[in-house]
Amino acid sequence: MLINIDMNTDDLVIDLKEFNYDRHVLRDIFDQARPNGRIKALKWRLPGGLVPVDQAVNLVIQHGENMMVDPTKAHLSYDLLQHDYIRDMVKRLNFDHEITSGNVDIIWNRKGFVFEPHVDHYAKATMIWTILPIEQGAKISFYNKEKIQYELGQALGFRDILKKEDILHTHVYGVDYPSIFNSHWPHGVSLVNDKERVCLRLRIDEPFESIVKKYRTGNLIKPV
Ligand SMILES: [Fe+2]
Repeated sequence: MLINIDMNTDDLVIDLKEFNYDRHVLRDIFDQARPNGRIKALKWRLPGGLVPVDQAVNLVIQHGENMMVDPTKAHLSYDLLQHDYIRDMVKRLNFDHEITSGNVDIIWNRKGFVFEPHVDHYAKATMIWTILPIEQGAKISFYNKEKIQYELGQALGFRDILKKEDILHTHVYGVDYPSIFNSHWPHGVSLVNDKERVCLRLRIDEPFESIVKKYRTGNLIKPV
């Protein structure tokens, strides 16, 4: 099926182009925090079971135990809101709920990582700031959901149903402004090649449509 690349992506993702950030500052924070990386995945997504952190391709730096699969790494909990730079950015955003340490993490993908198409059951919308690669934005693909029926609240992967040809739109994040995407729309990450893919992320419990509306009416971002 040929997809119209000029499709309206308003249901999928918005770029907050006026919300500038310095990815080099975030990179310094990542470098400080990276010893706290833990394996991020559901166990059924880890062929062969748990691997050592240095071999894992899908890691997370986070506070608490949201996505931890290896209980021996509980001590690596890391609060990203301890960094003024991140806390000040979060303070400028007007979501329907408070953003706490549990909503903020860094996702860290190494070479060989493929994130199969899925919907998030833990967030309605997700905000992303690219950290690495430093010279280009990370990517995310959105899939045609006509083929599937799903119920939220279940941990669902669609890898047997949604294929490459079902990609509706691949979004390239900016490197000096963040984006927010609709995490209830099937999405995934095609193969990460030679460069690490690292993003600061907010998991937001507010419908994407509501966030877009606020953004379009100038009510999402507070002035500095
Ligand atoms: Fe996701």
